[in-house]
Amino acid sequence: MNGIKIRGTGRSVPGKLVTNRDLEKIVETSDEWITARTGIRTRHHCAEGERISAITAEAARRCLADAGIGPEEIGACIVATATPETLVPSAACALQRDLGLPEDIPCFDLNAACTGFLFALHTMECLLNASPRKFGLVVGAENLSRVINWADRGTCILFGDGAGAAVVECREGWPSVSAVLGCHGNSELLYLPGPESEEHSYLSMEGTRVFKFAVEAVPWCVDQVLKKTGRTVEDVDFFVFHQANARIIDLAVRKYRIPPEKYYKNIAEYGNTSAASIPLVLSELREQGKIGPGSRILAVGFGGGLTWGGCLIEFA
Ligand code: UT7
Repeated sequence: MNGIKIRGTGRSVPGKLVTNRDLEKIVETSDEWITARTGIRTRHHCAEGERISAITAEAARRCLADAGIGPEEIGACIVATATPETLVPSAACALQRDLGLPEDIPCFDLNAACTGFLFALHTMECLLNASPRKFGLVVGAENLSRVINWADRGTCILFGDGAGAAVVECREGWPSVSAVLGCHGNSELLYLPGPESEEHSYLSMEGTRVFKFAVEAVPWCVDQVLKKTGRTVEDVDFFVFHQANARIIDLAVRKYRIPPEKYYKNIAEYGNTSAASIPLVLSELREQGKIGPGSRILAVGFGGGLTWGGCLIEFA
């Protein structure tokens, strides 16, 4: 089986910036509490009439431009999301239309909550091995502001909207992303009802228990990916963690003694954007020149499901 590498990245977030001070007017909370407990200072939310499909398309266009390839070269398109604008057509089919992707390719959505982007990377590697085209578009996009319960201070302060994208290329002789992926089949700790449900479609979470799961899942994923690839922490150029809580990242960084120049946090600006969080980080790092051709990145995600995942991915 041939492996994939990232060829380009892109991102887009809605313009409306919601600060911790704004939230103080809605629920009993404080900038100090939110900053200290989560590391979040702002998050971007879609304004009235602003559509996540347009933001997703913008992220993907920037990504294609960064990769230097045309839409006609794409062999598959996956959008990782738990909050698509419409269930049918999928966000990926809407993106296919907006970008003018070929018609004879699979375009579909994938829901693995916050781990979605890594599930999608692995799936894309499998798909491209069976495709005559060599490039794939993997997107993480979320409109979480739509499913926020504004009466629940334990969750409403956390989430943001946005989209991040990566073009990947598949070639003979390239290493696999060596994904380690899994799920617990748990619906108690993180829950978002579907449209058929009589409940309001609000996201609910038992934060402390999910936190405990995350601090175990992250090192488990790091260890498993290193074991699977035969690499060490020193072989990794950059660690990219799902941005759910700055404290979860800090614990992982301390455990593996990762130096500051080898990891990144943008949760202060974006909050938790679920499936968009890892590609948002990748795109910022790429723009800042911190990762690029030859970089080896270990990415770890975790979230609702409960799902977890890790991948070792190189830049083409
Ligand atoms: O991306 C998917 C995966 N998600 C995660 O990984 C999220 C993991 N969980 C977390 O990040 C944290 O659990 C939270 C940030 C959600 C909550 O932090 P915590 O330190 O676990 O707080 P807690 O829920 O245990 O609450 C501690 C106290 C409680 O008050 P009492 O009962 O001690 O009086 C809460 O009511 O803090 C209170 N609290 C708040 N206070 C001010 C909870 N939310 C807030 C708030 N502002 N927004």
